Amino acid sequence: MIRLVDLYKRYDTKKGSVVAVDRVNLHIRQGEIFGIVGYSGAGKSSVLRCINLLEKPTSGRVLVNGVELTSLSKNELRLARQKIGMIFQHFHLISSKTVFDNVAFALKAAETPKAAIAGRVNELLGLVGLADKADQYPAQLSGGQKQRVGIARALANEPQVLLCDEPTSALDPTTTQSILALLKQINRELGLTIVLITHEMEVVKDLCHRVAIMQSGRVIEEGDVYSVFADPVQPLTQQFIRNALEFKLPQKLWDKLDPAGKVLKVLFRDEVAEQPVIDELLKAGGIRANILHGRIEYIGDKPLGTFIMEVTGHTGEIDEAVRFLTGRGCGVEVMSNVG
Ligand SMILES: Nc1ncnc2c1ncn2[C@@H]1O[C@H](COP(=O)(O)OP(=O)(O)O)[C@@H](O)[C@H]1O
Ligand SMILES: [Mg+2]
Repeated sequence: MIRLVDLYKRYDTKKGSVVAVDRVNLHIRQGEIFGIVGYSGAGKSSVLRCINLLEKPTSGRVLVNGVELTSLSKNELRLARQKIGMIFQHFHLISSKTVFDNVAFALKAAETPKAAIAGRVNELLGLVGLADKADQYPAQLSGGQKQRVGIARALANEPQVLLCDEPTSALDPTTTQSILALLKQINRELGLTIVLITHEMEVVKDLCHRVAIMQSGRVIEEGDVYSVFADPVQPLTQQFIRNALEFKLPQKLWDKLDPAGKVLKVLFRDEVAEQPVIDELLKAGGIRANILHGRIEYIGDKPLGTFIMEVTGHTGEIDEAVRFLTGRGCGVEVMSNVG
């Protein structure tokens, strides 16, 4: 659906040049929700704004639905853009217009026949759950409601692609959940391809099918969300995942542990999460294990288990236990009480 080929964006300013996007190649498939993750300044917004040519790439190609946007005339581009909706962290609503007029504005810009506008706006407001807010002004709405207006406006011209730049970063956790649920519904029911930027792995875990991680203008890792969570390769990706899945043992617990033991963090991936691996480990004899923490996440519908356990026994036996777990396909990390 979307292809970025050697996308390169450099901003030349009086203070010097900044390479914001450094030869990014991505293929985003029809109908998927694709996440782009990275810290501030990584180049995420620049990539997104290059997808609808809100920002003109310095070099490289942007193809949406088989059309090379980088080769279109001004007028062709204006029409192509109507099929690419966009929503923003700070909503970008027009404060002097009502909810109704904010959405109608997008339809008028696309030269929708006057007679069709009211019906379409009401349909859109119904879809985002704001049927009763048509006459309110943005200042009278909560953050979540403002974002719903933003979504209605973005969907006005029946786009095939929805670009979302940190759509929940200004919202509280409960509102975030409701907006993510709405995006999921739109993806499922309208078959819209969604590209979503976030710095929160939780959002990726809940919503996305595939994800790319950006650092210094480059995509350093990409894959389906489960594999990236279960087996992150790059240090930055590991850091993001750790922040999302990390559990810190309370100091009190560390103080009570047997100094001769080791604390293992064991990751159970895919079908291993459904097998009695720990049971087998204990039955093999030697070590003793004491579970300190455990949880199973479901990403899509696949389980990803994390267990933290204290194992005690002879050094050789503990090493043998680690080998056993690794051999069974578990990820094993020896934890220490620092950092
Ligand atoms: N319009 C601009 N002019 C100059 N520099 C910019 C502009 N937009 C972004 N940048 C710079 O490009 C880099 C990437 O920015 P951005 O794409 O906004 O990253 P992100 O969305 O990941 O925070 C940053 O160093 C930023 O300062
Ligand atoms: Mg940004």
